Amino acid sequence: MITVRRARPGDALAIRNLLKDLGYGGDARATDETVSQVVKHPEAAVFVATQGVEVVGYVALSCRPQMRLAGLLASIDEIAVTQSQRQTGVGTQLLETAIGHARSLQCRRIEVREARPGEGHLRRFFSARNFVELDEAVLGIEL
Ligand SMILES: CC(C)(COP(=O)(O)OP(=O)(O)OC[C@H]1O[C@@H](n2cnc3c(N)ncnc32)[C@H](O)[C@@H]1OP(=O)(O)O)[C@@H](O)C(=O)NCCC(=O)NCCS
Repeated sequence: MITVRRARPGDALAIRNLLKDLGYGGDARATDETVSQVVKHPEAAVFVATQGVEVVGYVALSCRPQMRLAGLLASIDEIAVTQSQRQTGVGTQLLETAIGHARSLQCRRIEVREARPGEGHLRRFFSARNFVELDEAVLGIEL
């Protein structure tokens, strides 16, 4: 049975392994430290999906006030399920938890960024769950 709960600093190793699956998390110490900071951050929320004691997925979101929304904006910063557990509903459970959390904080919108807009399983996953493309693009500089 899959259970979803709030992440704890002790989940850092499991989350790092999931990040590795996604192609992130080169520096183990820096990643563990960052996971620990995010888990405790007042504007962030991280939930893990567990099967027994094993972490099989996580979702990280953050909520911040945005003036043009006249309220809170929630962003799904990361969502990942371990390869062997995909397509069994774990991602949906994590997403529902994230949406429920954002609603409980009275967020006005929840959004997610795609690495390559319009392509792949991620678009299918979110589109099938009522996410629609917003008329925005993200520009940035890596610092
Ligand atoms: C996106 C992700 C979290 C979904 O988790 P999941 O546990 O597989 O999701 P569920 O089992 O609840 O739902 C599967 C849905 O995802 C989509 N999907 C996932 N993999 C798919 C694939 N290979 N082919 C087609 N659709 C796929 C479908 O829409 C499917 O919906 P359906 O149940 O209506 O068919 C998971 O695929 C993942 O970890 N992907 C890699 C991580 C990633 O890219 N994260 C985003 C960057 S932060």
